[in-house]
Amino acid sequence: MENPATVGQLTDILRQGGYLADRGLATALFVGMSLNRPILLEGEVGVGKTEVAKVMAAAFGRKLIRLQCYEGIDTNQALYEWDYARQMLHIRALSEHQVTDPDAVDKLFGPKFLLERPLLEAVRAGQGAVLLIDEIDRADDEFEAFLLEVLSDFQISIPEIGTIRADSPPLVVLTSNRTRELHDALKRRCLYHWIGYPAADREVEIVLIREPGISAALARKVVAAVQRLRELDLAKPPGVAETIDWARTLDFLGESDLDTSTAQDTLGAVVKDRDDLEVVLDNLQEITSGARGS
Ligand SMILES: Nc1ncnc2c1ncn2[C@@H]1O[C@H](COP(=O)(O)OP(=O)(O)OP(=O)(O)O)[C@@H](O)[C@H]1O
Ligand SMILES: [Mg+2]
Repeated sequence: MENPATVGQLTDILRQGGYLADRGLATALFVGMSLNRPILLEGEVGVGKTEVAKVMAAAFGRKLIRLQCYEGIDTNQALYEWDYARQMLHIRALSEHQVTDPDAVDKLFGPKFLLERPLLEAVRAGQGAVLLIDEIDRADDEFEAFLLEVLSDFQISIPEIGTIRADSPPLVVLTSNRTRELHDALKRRCLYHWIGYPAADREVEIVLIREPGISAALARKVVAAVQRLRELDLAKPPGVAETIDWARTLDFLGESDLDTSTAQDTLGAVVKDRDDLEVVLDNLQEITSGARGS
């Protein structure tokens, strides 16, 4: 599909794909897509950072290429590796049959033995891809610096093969949970958008768009309770993902209402920390009444 012509059009396309983007997020995506700028999404846990990249890829018929970052990730895992096992087999075959091809050794470091990792794959796919660099804050400093280099010119040099360049860069979405501060240089390259918790009305809409079978009344109850939970000082406040899970759980159990006893029985869908659980149980009445305490 072609790039959208307006922010509104992009918002509609995402909605059809099951994702509700607010104006700010849709604008960042629209500009990023149109001007080839990477988008850095930061936000709380479970607020739709990863999902938006997936929906963008699906909605525009692009391939989703995901680079999941973790502590200790290095350039080999991100760019390319040589397929040692196949190289060894090839060498064995060569020695058994005597070498007749004078280029045989050079070919060992040719495209046939190259294993593409996400960044190389994305450079090759260019505009046909959405590159999701997920949870960049988990990778270390050096890796971030290396990423910055790749993102600035979208070309990758492989000494044995040459330089591979993207004609038109892929759409790049980076996400971070802010477990550490990212470098200014990386931020400067990107369009930045913070995804916070949605307002209640919007969260109800999100639940209903993901789980159309659930009644609006139940969705509203669950959202009110979750919003109340977020006001408590929990170690792990529930994200939108938990709201959806909770609503789905209640619906599955045939519950159409959320009172203290049904809440207590199903808390495992939203509260996933033992200390938090105690706090929540102490406040269950207030949480399920939807009352907004001060
Ligand atoms: N705006 C939204 N529209 C539709 N669905 C949403 C939205 N926000 C969140 N969701 C739902 O919440 C789920 C969790 O979102 P996602 O995994 O993208 O969160 P995240 O921000 O990447 O979380 P984490 O920080 O844990 O990686 C998604 O599968 C999706 O169903
Ligand atoms: Mg995520």
